[in-house]
Amino acid sequence: MDPTTNLSEPMDIQETLERLRGEAPDRIERVESAEALEDLAAELTGKRSPIAAGRRSLGSAPPEQRRDLGRAINDVAAELDALIDARRSSLEAAEAADALAADRVDVTLPGRAQPRGTIHVIQQVMDEIVDIFVAMGYTAATGPEVETEFYNFTALNFPVAHPTRLESDTLYLDYGDDPEGVLLRTHTSPMQARYMEQHEPPVYLVVPGRVFRRDPVDSTHSPVFHQVEGLAVDSDITFGDLKGVLDHFAREFLGPDITTKFIPHHFPFTEPSAEMHVYAHGRWMELIGCGMVHPAVFEAVGYDPNDVTGFAFGMGADRLAMVRHGITDLRHLFDPDRRILEQYR
Ligand code: PHE
Repeated sequence: MDPTTNLSEPMDIQETLERLRGEAPDRIERVESAEALEDLAAELTGKRSPIAAGRRSLGSAPPEQRRDLGRAINDVAAELDALIDARRSSLEAAEAADALAADRVDVTLPGRAQPRGTIHVIQQVMDEIVDIFVAMGYTAATGPEVETEFYNFTALNFPVAHPTRLESDTLYLDYGDDPEGVLLRTHTSPMQARYMEQHEPPVYLVVPGRVFRRDPVDSTHSPVFHQVEGLAVDSDITFGDLKGVLDHFAREFLGPDITTKFIPHHFPFTEPSAEMHVYAHGRWMELIGCGMVHPAVFEAVGYDPNDVTGFAFGMGADRLAMVRHGITDLRHLFDPDRRILEQYR
């Protein structure tokens, strides 16, 4: 029988108290965790402890001894409680110290730099082009990259048999049930037709965007590239206005000393048509296709060609980025190598 839990004699109580006093301090001191300490506290002073058993047995002790026995029990209980409290405090302090050590921050370490993203150089260039025209009163809009053959070609006066409609030039999609077909737009010009259909003249519009052609990749070609379209339609717009606006643009974008020239060209949706070239980095570069809006386009969108005239232009944003930054290979612009991209912050 366990002598610590069955105390019927005053002598047993005394003995048990002595024993507790002798061994408990050491046990309390050796406890290594808060949890183990609470278990030990229950064992030493809780409901099933010798202390509680001693108190319960007081009633059966001789009356003249009860007072002393009771006091002895209380004294030992108080001693044990004090030891347990002290140990509890030091265990808590140690745990807090461990937690602090685990979370320690060395405030003297240099910070970890977060690499900052940048706007891609092509987007920067398109934003800047748009800004130059917005400053002249133009409105910016964007259009769908997946386009119908109607807006990409037909509304723009491309004859049915025009070679760029061929699958060898244009990327068609097997999508939807449009009677004429669905494709990846080959230029931003379809937005001329879309915008005029929705708006009455006058129109002063710029459209930045991505365009697609079936071209193999080389230093000057990519199947995906970028254009900014422009359209000005009003009651009395002339080719002189077109030249003035594009010259102004070239000086704003490339510098006041830039030299430009206009060379006759052909586009189905402008008449007359031209290409603007600029002299940069020791050579002439074709940068902008342009011309006076063809009357057939006005008719296709519901404008009366007797009431309005206009000019349109489309420029290659990638080429403008190359001229601006002296980049000689278009592929650099589509290379995700940060050593390249970081140069154009
Ligand atoms: N869309 C033509 C191209 O991609 C450029 C252009 C736009 C020409 C507007 C004239 C007028 O080559």
